[in-house]
Amino acid sequence: MNMAHRSMPVFEIPELDRQHRSILDGLQFLREAPRLRESDVAELHRCLAEIKAHFAWEESELDRVGYPDKIRHKVDHERQVANLEDLLKYVDEGHERLDEDFFQACLAWTERHIRSMDADFVLFLKQRECWDLQQELRAWEYEEHLQSI
Ligand SMILES: [Fe+2]
Ligand SMILES: [Fe+2]
Repeated sequence: MNMAHRSMPVFEIPELDRQHRSILDGLQFLREAPRLRESDVAELHRCLAEIKAHFAWEESELDRVGYPDKIRHKVDHERQVANLEDLLKYVDEGHERLDEDFFQACLAWTERHIRSMDADFVLFLKQRECWDLQQELRAWEYEEHLQSI
C-alpha cells in the first residue's frame, strides 16, 4: 500500500522519508478501515511497534551527529509513545472502541511532529547556518515574549 500524503514534507533523506511514509500509511489505513475491533487493535499494535522502531532509529541519528536540541525532540517522541501505550492498554482492557477520531489525532500529531521537530533536525543536517540562525531568532522571540507579559 502506498497512499499519498500531500501534507508530509519530503526531506530527500530516503530512509527517513520511507519510515515516515510507512507510519502515515499505517495510521491512514486504520483511519479508513472498517471498524472491526479485533483487526484494528492488532494493526494498531503493529503501528505502535513501527513508530517505536522509527523513534529509536531517529534518536540514534540525533546522537550520532550530536544534535543540540535532541532532549526536546526525544521528549516529544516519549509523549506520543506514552499516549499511545496508555490508550492501547485501555482499549486492550475492553474499555473503548477505536474510532476515526482517535486515528485522526494520531495522524495529526505525527504530521505536526514531522513538520516541526523532524524538519528542524533535517535543517540542522543540511543547512547548519540556517539552523543556528533559526535558534537565535527563536531565543530572541522568546525574550520579547517574556518582556511583553
Ligand atoms: Fe522525530
Ligand atoms: Fe520522525
